[in-house]
Amino acid sequence: MKLAIYPGTFDPVTFGHIDIIERSSALFDEVIVSVAVDSRKETLFTVKERLEMLKEVTSKYKNVKVDSFKGLLVHYAEEKKASAIIRGLRAVLDFEYELQMALTNRKLSEKITTVFLTPGEKYSYLSSTLVREIAAYGGNLSHFVPPEVEKQLKSKNKT
Ligand code: COA
Repeated sequence: MKLAIYPGTFDPVTFGHIDIIERSSALFDEVIVSVAVDSRKETLFTVKERLEMLKEVTSKYKNVKVDSFKGLLVHYAEEKKASAIIRGLRAVLDFEYELQMALTNRKLSEKITTVFLTPGEKYSYLSSTLVREIAAYGGNLSHFVPPEVEKQLKSKNKT
């Protein structure tokens, strides 16, 4: 059985992430979308909120599970007996950072291979930061996130 981990901050999950999740679920027997608890980023949503949104938007993919992890990604991937780490490559801009992570992770664990997938081009400019900014200024979010996530973004910005 081929298992892949798709890690990230997912603050919040966007259509771009969902595009990668869908592609991964067609390639692997099982995919675990996993929220990094110790992300260096300051987040708008708590880990629990991010997990709940991910669960809702991935419920239609039967071989996709949602989880969170602490510490090193490769340790978590080994513990889950994953063979691959999935990362999305949106544009050239992502390349240097992603290459550095992939090569470092390979040094840490030869057993785990990083697989890069490109989302559809209409999502190649998208990021969670942009989505949070659009939400903060009351912009239209329907092109970027599913309705469940839009609702959560709107309620965060009311408080
Ligand atoms: N569609 C839309 N946006 C996408 C995307 C896609 N397909 N792919 C990436 N992004 C965006 C994200 O929204 C995010 O945007 P933001 O910076 O505005 O929040 C950005 O690209 C990259 O974020 P993400 O994919 O969530 O990765 P990350 O850089 O936040 O997370 C970890 C990186 C958590 C996977 C990495 O730090 C990690 O593994 N940490 C654990 C500790 C560890 O093992 N460290 C050693 C690593 S070598």
